[in-house]
Amino acid sequence: MKRGVNVSEQLLEMSKITKRFPGVHALKGVDFSLRKGEVHALLGENGAGKSTLMKVLGGIYQLNEGSITIGGNKVDIKDVNDAKENGVSIIHQEIVLVPYLTIAENIFLGKEPLKKSGFIDMDSMIKQAQTFIDNFDLGLHAKMLVSDLTVAQQQMIEIIKAVSFNSEIIVMDEPTSSLTDKEVDFLFKTIKQLKEQNVGIVYISHRMNELFEVTDRITVMRDGEYIDTVNTNETTNNELISMMVGRDMNQMYERTYVKKSGQTILSVQGLTRKGVINDVSFSLEKGEILGFSGLVGAGRSEVMKCIFGIDEYDEGEIFVNGKKVNINVPNDAISHGIAYVPENRKEEGLFLIKPVDYNITIKILHQFMSMFQVNKRYEDEQADYYIKELSIKTPNKDQIVNNLSGGNQQKVLFSKWLATKPNILILDEPTRGVDVGAKSEIYTIMNQLVEEGVSIIMVSSELPEIINMSDRVAVMYKGSIQKVLEKEAMDQETIMYYATGGN
Ligand SMILES: Nc1ncnc2c1ncn2[C@@H]1O[C@H](COP(=O)(O)OP(=O)(O)OP(=O)(O)O)[C@@H](O)[C@H]1O
Ligand SMILES: [Mg+2]
Repeated sequence: MKRGVNVSEQLLEMSKITKRFPGVHALKGVDFSLRKGEVHALLGENGAGKSTLMKVLGGIYQLNEGSITIGGNKVDIKDVNDAKENGVSIIHQEIVLVPYLTIAENIFLGKEPLKKSGFIDMDSMIKQAQTFIDNFDLGLHAKMLVSDLTVAQQQMIEIIKAVSFNSEIIVMDEPTSSLTDKEVDFLFKTIKQLKEQNVGIVYISHRMNELFEVTDRITVMRDGEYIDTVNTNETTNNELISMMVGRDMNQMYERTYVKKSGQTILSVQGLTRKGVINDVSFSLEKGEILGFSGLVGAGRSEVMKCIFGIDEYDEGEIFVNGKKVNINVPNDAISHGIAYVPENRKEEGLFLIKPVDYNITIKILHQFMSMFQVNKRYEDEQADYYIKELSIKTPNKDQIVNNLSGGNQQKVLFSKWLATKPNILILDEPTRGVDVGAKSEIYTIMNQLVEEGVSIIMVSSELPEIINMSDRVAVMYKGSIQKVLEKEAMDQETIMYYATGGN
């Protein structure tokens, strides 16, 4: 399925694109171009305007000024259908599948094959969908409901949906943020095949190493402005970062303060949830950061969900400050000073259609309710404090969270739990989807918290993050803790050895 041979041929030209939202000048005359068979990255801090630029291309937002040329013709993209007709497909940062429909129905939504009678040809639809799925070796059935899939599987269905319909331009907005390594490999293989078919791909990711692996060119944006476009093989990590943040930045992050208190604040004994986690025991010291490492699916998040009362456990005991506690629902955990920042903000964390201040203060509302009236001033103070402290990019605190960029939503989620002033803070993939600058802000906050005596459990798939930030790391494998490593014994090889079942 060759679609022309001249690889350098221009496919897309976006010129001087401007987009304003109430109170936000999201795009200020941005240029972007894409060639056939090219993977072109868009890079920039959280809120720089990457998703917005692509939503303009995808017909989700209308541009205020500027022009779009596809295949040499000036196009007017008024809605999603216009975009589709121009061969544009977008895999969105936030999953937009319909949960109560099957995989097949989701893949074919809006373009279902019809029988002569005009009814949907279910058999043909399921058969075709199954072929797509099998091409990716996903081991799923086309008739499964999307609501029964994991986030990673849903992400893969989004990808299949976009690549299965002969699009000329495919936009991938942080496609790997919830994929396992195996799925990332598949995705990169698919990207290479698409390149050979002369498809142009826009690739958005905060993971710099991925950019060096799959992209040909990189365009950097900052604060809604176009900064520069460079060839991937002619640039460096540091150059890109300083273009992104507008200054040189020290990318290193470390624990600044390490002092053993010797005081156990949390102790977990023999925690078991049948078929998921098995006989998990560990303890957490006051003022410690305990990392949890392991492959995706090793049971790390499941342990945290049991401790926080989201999932039930079949066996085991939990002690806080030496006292046995019963945790059946999250409120039990909160009353014992535990907070949990989940990995999936959309499903478990935020009220997307509520404003920023509401989301930040929802968990501490009771503190400033007097006579059933919210003390607006205290609420404001709290919201302002976290917006400033975490540099949340929002025009004001009344902004609906859904209108914030992905990384800034993550910061709001973080604030909501910090505001509860927990003694034990459980962070599940705390820096997923946040840019390099915000990452180091989050590490700084973690350092401050442990200094103040808060204890942190950090689940993370990023080994450098685990190694630099944790005092100890518990490595999980198939639902059990395989090994707890002290700081001195932590390196990538050792952690991977235990994470893959070594003993
Ligand atoms: N529908 C909207 N209404 C109001 N403001 C919006 C809307 N969509 C985006 N914005 C704002 O536009 C700016 C750019 O957001 P965008 O989502 O494009 O950032 P991004 O570069 O994709 O960031 P991230 O890396 O966090 O995903 C942000 O300030 C965001 O809050
Ligand atoms: Mg985005």
